[in-house]
Amino acid sequence: MTMRRALRGPILHFLDDPGDEDRPREGSLGYFADGLLVIENGRIAALDDAETLLPTLHADTVLEHYPQRLIMPGFIDAHLHFAQLGIIASYGRQLLDWLNNYTFPEESRFRDRDYADRIAEAFIDEQLRHGTTCAMVFATSHENSVEALFTAAKRYDMRLMTGKVLMDRNAPEALRDDPVKGIADSRRLLERWHDNGRLEYVLSPRFAPTSSPEQLAAAGRFLDDFPGIAMQTHLSENRAEIEWVASLYPEADDYLDVYARAGLLRSRCFFGHAIHIDDSVRRRLREADAAITVCPSSNLFLGSGLFDWRAARAQGVNLALATDIGAGTSLSQLQTLQDAYKVCQLNGYPLPVWQAFYRLTLGNARTLGIERHVGSFAPGNEADVVILDTAGTPLMARKRESRESRLDELLFDLMMLGDDRCVACTYVMGEPRYRRAD
Ligand code: GUN
Ligand code: ZN
Repeated sequence: MTMRRALRGPILHFLDDPGDEDRPREGSLGYFADGLLVIENGRIAALDDAETLLPTLHADTVLEHYPQRLIMPGFIDAHLHFAQLGIIASYGRQLLDWLNNYTFPEESRFRDRDYADRIAEAFIDEQLRHGTTCAMVFATSHENSVEALFTAAKRYDMRLMTGKVLMDRNAPEALRDDPVKGIADSRRLLERWHDNGRLEYVLSPRFAPTSSPEQLAAAGRFLDDFPGIAMQTHLSENRAEIEWVASLYPEADDYLDVYARAGLLRSRCFFGHAIHIDDSVRRRLREADAAITVCPSSNLFLGSGLFDWRAARAQGVNLALATDIGAGTSLSQLQTLQDAYKVCQLNGYPLPVWQAFYRLTLGNARTLGIERHVGSFAPGNEADVVILDTAGTPLMARKRESRESRLDELLFDLMMLGDDRCVACTYVMGEPRYRRAD
């Protein structure tokens, strides 16, 4: 039996990169003031003006009307750590102290499958409550954590990418693996979960300081063995970290070169943060078709620095936006945009709303290499949808009452004032998985 659903209301999605100007590039936007999104068996069947499509609907279509809302593709979060949910917003200094004082002790608890299951469930619930329908996530170094997260995502049929963290040194014993076992575990998890429904396995060496050169080299060989598999790690986030890497890997030209020498600089390799980098690093990232996952909330919280978005764009580096929970202080990609906007302002670039919302949807999907599945309402795509309330907080509602706003102004309100209160409903594969209590 075909399951049919249609969502009516203002609908916005992106067809292409809208560029960096205040006006979106011609042809980059699809907007329907009174649109209809038709979903069949969890996939986009049609999108057009309601007037055009309503007469064509099958009699058994479930029709939902959101006249006062904004219908968009579900948000995509390109870098975060589900096991850090419980230590979000933990006080203290910068990256390395924060890792040692809070992160590593908390991650050590994920050896326990029950605990991992509990946090994985809570994490997926939180994602959906925040309008995020797809994410690339770090698990911990325990197989259990990966099993728990994939199992929880599968329950909602959510598109999710994750992998076992590889770390064989400079961490508590409870988190350390070794080069042989770490890769064997990764291989077993990949074979069990990769392409299992909407799930994707991601090779996940934590960062250069917690991997021996042998482990990084083994990770590089893993990518040779499984071409096209994604890799996520961290790069040049913090000054002390960078100095540490230079002392651990004296033969490397710079931090990125550590990964390059290990065979970890290629297409679909995703480097978190990459704040303290130069033109040469940006050039090598672009030439390799690798990408930076940009995490402004986390960078501000840990005092890591201000990512130069404009320089990265100018050199054509692939970018994706991310919360980086638990160093990021909100699961809301709207709040991430707020921080991104302020950081970009300090670098002399007022991030336009079109570019901002493109990033959360089609832009992140393209960078992650999953745009044939999600990120826009192209026919055949998986129907991950967020219903946004542009008056979701009392302050936003007050502003709405006092003045008429254009679409770009409504979007700017969402990104500067919005949070989870602005998420009215979240659909995964055409099924409503979260509804705000109104
Ligand atoms: N670098 C290595 N591990 C981490 C982590 O868990 N969070 C952040 N922000 N940076 C890292
Ligand atoms: Zn991270």
